[in-house]
Amino acid sequence: MDAYKLATSALWSAVPVTPEREAHGMASIATSVDGEGRAQRSERGSLWSSGSAYEPYVGQWSRLVAREFLAWLALSPGQRWLDVGCGTGALSECILRLAAAREVVGIDPSAAFVAYVREHVTNTGVRFEVGDAQELPYEEGAFDAVVSGLVLNFVPEPHKGVAEMARVARSGGTVAAYVWDYAGGMQLMRHFWDTAVALNPVARAQDEGLRSPLCHPEPLADLFRGAGVHDVDVRAIHVPTHFRDFDDYWSPFLAGKAPAPDYAMSLDEPRRAALRERIRAGLPVEADGSIRLVARAWAARGVR
Ligand SMILES: C[S@@+](CC[C@H](N)C(=O)[O-])C[C@H]1O[C@@H](n2cnc3c(N)ncnc32)[C@H](O)[C@@H]1O
Repeated sequence: MDAYKLATSALWSAVPVTPEREAHGMASIATSVDGEGRAQRSERGSLWSSGSAYEPYVGQWSRLVAREFLAWLALSPGQRWLDVGCGTGALSECILRLAAAREVVGIDPSAAFVAYVREHVTNTGVRFEVGDAQELPYEEGAFDAVVSGLVLNFVPEPHKGVAEMARVARSGGTVAAYVWDYAGGMQLMRHFWDTAVALNPVARAQDEGLRSPLCHPEPLADLFRGAGVHDVDVRAIHVPTHFRDFDDYWSPFLAGKAPAPDYAMSLDEPRRAALRERIRAGLPVEADGSIRLVARAWAARGVR
C-alpha cells in the first residue's frame, strides 16, 4: 500500500460502520466524525433548504434534461401544466419558455425552494405553492399535463405520489417524470459515491445509487402502470455535464444541501480532503483541465 492509501485508510478506520441517518426524507440527521474519529450527530435541517446552493449542484443540469424531456413530450400549446416537486423551478421555467402553456402550477414541500422560485420566476400565468406529491391539493382532472423532474425517488411513498399525479391529470392527459440514473449513468454523482464508499463503507447507506431502486427503466414503468397510467413509455435522456476544472466540479458538493453534499459536509476536514483528493485522482481530466462527464436520466411518460 502506498503512503497516500495508508494514510487515508488509517483516517477512515475509526469511522463506525453503522448507517447513521435517514437521507431520503426532508429531515436529515447528519453524522460527522471529529478529529479522534468519534461520530457526532447533528440536526442539519431540511435537505432542500437552499435554492442558491441547489442551483450550481443539480439545478443547472436538471434544466438540460428538462429541455429534452419537453421535446420528447411534444405537447401542443395552451395546456394547463402541474410541476410536482418544482424545487427551484428548473422544469417550470422550461415549460414557460418552450411549451406555450396556458397555465403552470409548481408545488414543492420545501418552503425555502418555493420562496426562491417565487422570487426568480415571475411570469404571468404561473404560481408556486407549498405541498406534498402524496396529497396534491387539486381537483381530479385539473391539469392537462402533470410532470415531475428528479423528484419521485425522494417521495417517501412514490406510488402515492404517482397516483396523485394521475388523479389530478384529466382523462387523456399526460403524466410524465424523470429521475437521475443514480446507479449508473449519473456520472458526477457516481464518481462521488463510488469513492465515498471505497473510503468508508458507512457511506453505502447514503449512496443514492443503492437508495433509489425506482431509478431504473422497469421499476419506473411499473410505478406508472400501477397508478393506472397507460401507454407507458420509458427512455434515457443524456446530457453533458462539463466542468471548467476540478474546483468547478467539487465546490457544489460543499454547499451541503442534497444527499451527496450533505454527506461531504458531514465529514471532518481531513476526511473531506481525503475524499476530495481520491475523487480528483479518479476523474477524467482533459488537457485544458476541464472535466467532461455525462449525466443520464430515465424519463417515463404515459396517458391518464
Ligand atoms: C432534486 S430536487 C428537483 C427539483 C426540480 N424539480 C428540478 O428538476 O431541479 C428534488 C425535489 O423534490 C422535492 N420533494 C421531496 N419530497 C417531496 C414530496 N414528498 N413531494 C413533492 N416534492 C418533494 C424537494 O423539495 C426538491 O425540490
